[in-house]
Amino acid sequence: MSDLQVKVEQVKALLASAVAEFGAVTFANSLGAEDMVLTDLIAQFQPEIAMFSLDTGRLPQETYDLMQAVRERYAVPLTVYFPESASVETLVAKNGVNGFYDSVEKRKACCFVRKVEPLKRALTGKRAWITGMRRDQAVTRGTLEVSSYDADQGLHKLNPLLDWTNAEVWEYIKQHDVPYNKLHDRFYPSIGCAPCTRNVTPGEDIRSGRWWWESADGKECGLHAGKISKLS
Ligand code: ADX
Ligand code: SF4
Repeated sequence: MSDLQVKVEQVKALLASAVAEFGAVTFANSLGAEDMVLTDLIAQFQPEIAMFSLDTGRLPQETYDLMQAVRERYAVPLTVYFPESASVETLVAKNGVNGFYDSVEKRKACCFVRKVEPLKRALTGKRAWITGMRRDQAVTRGTLEVSSYDADQGLHKLNPLLDWTNAEVWEYIKQHDVPYNKLHDRFYPSIGCAPCTRNVTPGEDIRSGRWWWESADGKECGLHAGKISKLS
């Protein structure tokens, strides 16, 4: 067995044990490369795991194209959560439609309305959630664990690809002909909302294209950081 096959078997075992232990398990699917690996594995081996995406309303067209491709390729449903329209209206009235460029506080307020609050709804009633985070993606992710209790969200959190390399993620995608976001072919290794994501130069930090105007040690959107910035 290759190293990758061993890792795939470990992920399959982790998914199966999560279902056995927690029952109500959901996968937060950003449609990034890692999450497409998990989509492929969950759809084939653990389809009872629910799957959702947070549509912030500001995603790139290529992400919507992939969302549609996932619907066509896989039998498992991808539930899409939207922000509360009244909260978006208040946010835009207060800070402007692109106010997130003005300060970290305003950026986090936008992420709160468009991602963090919808995430709370997506996790309601679940006992565990799955993400596609990898340890070497960012300085903020070095101390993550494969399985731990997420006190911020109040349920268990699993990061099955934590110790995968970027090369392993792409080896899996190519081997299994998994659909992926076409922006990855244009030097976008990490993709979020369109106005907050840009391409990187080869060799640059893979998350350097996310919120590129902010410093690397604070670049989390509140889905994982624990610090939630409400609109005041
Ligand atoms: S983040 O800073 O946007 O949170 P990243 O794009 O690296 O970081 O995503 C990390 C993980 O958070 C993804 O693997 C996925 O599990 C979850 N996630 C991020 N964005 C979304 C989204 N829009 N919908 C669902 N899950 C998401
Ligand atoms: Fe708003 Fe940018 Fe956060 Fe998307 S990533 S929710 S546009 S601040």
